[in-house]
Amino acid sequence: MATYIGNCADLIDWKKITAPLDDIVSDELYNADTMRLYENHFLNSTNQLSDFLKDQVATSSSQIDYNLFLIKEWSSKYRLDTIGFSLYRPGKHYDATVDNILIKLLGGNITTTSISRLDPGYNVPIHEDYTNIKEPNYDPNKKVCRYVIFITPPETGQFFTLGDECFHNIKIGEIYKWDRPQQLHCAANASYKINYLYHLQVEY
Ligand SMILES: [Fe+2]
Repeated sequence: MATYIGNCADLIDWKKITAPLDDIVSDELYNADTMRLYENHFLNSTNQLSDFLKDQVATSSSQIDYNLFLIKEWSSKYRLDTIGFSLYRPGKHYDATVDNILIKLLGGNITTTSISRLDPGYNVPIHEDYTNIKEPNYDPNKKVCRYVIFITPPETGQFFTLGDECFHNIKIGEIYKWDRPQQLHCAANASYKINYLYHLQVEY
């Protein structure tokens, strides 16, 4: 079971953080088109890549292999055209001081944070995230924790699952620690409003 950490709604004005994102299209957009471009680039050596996908070319070969595995899984077992989510990054799309406030609460050192966006009618199929824990040079003495924060007001029809738990109509600002960073998770948005979640990976 995910561990309940507390609520940060009094510390961070999440509405102020997420409202401008409604009008920003992130280059880290994952949908049927971008995933096919990615697959074609690596499997068929085409060069049609967005700037974000060009950046991805520089990532580790184990990450590329994992991404290709996931795209293959999703294309064979899922409707790719129902997938559509994007990620926003601190300092680039929203105020990075959010992380300073959160780290005072959580301790440790932040390795990655992002805001995920899921528009009405889209899903994120069940998957495990790629993390640098899988890199061969990763220090096994480091303890890595993953957190999720619910940063939009409760909205019926917005679901996030982690392991066998389902989070629905969760209060804004609620923080949960995952059991482990490699847990299976998925999300769906059957509401009429955009769903945003905050994700943190922290090293101790
Ligand atoms: Fe994920």
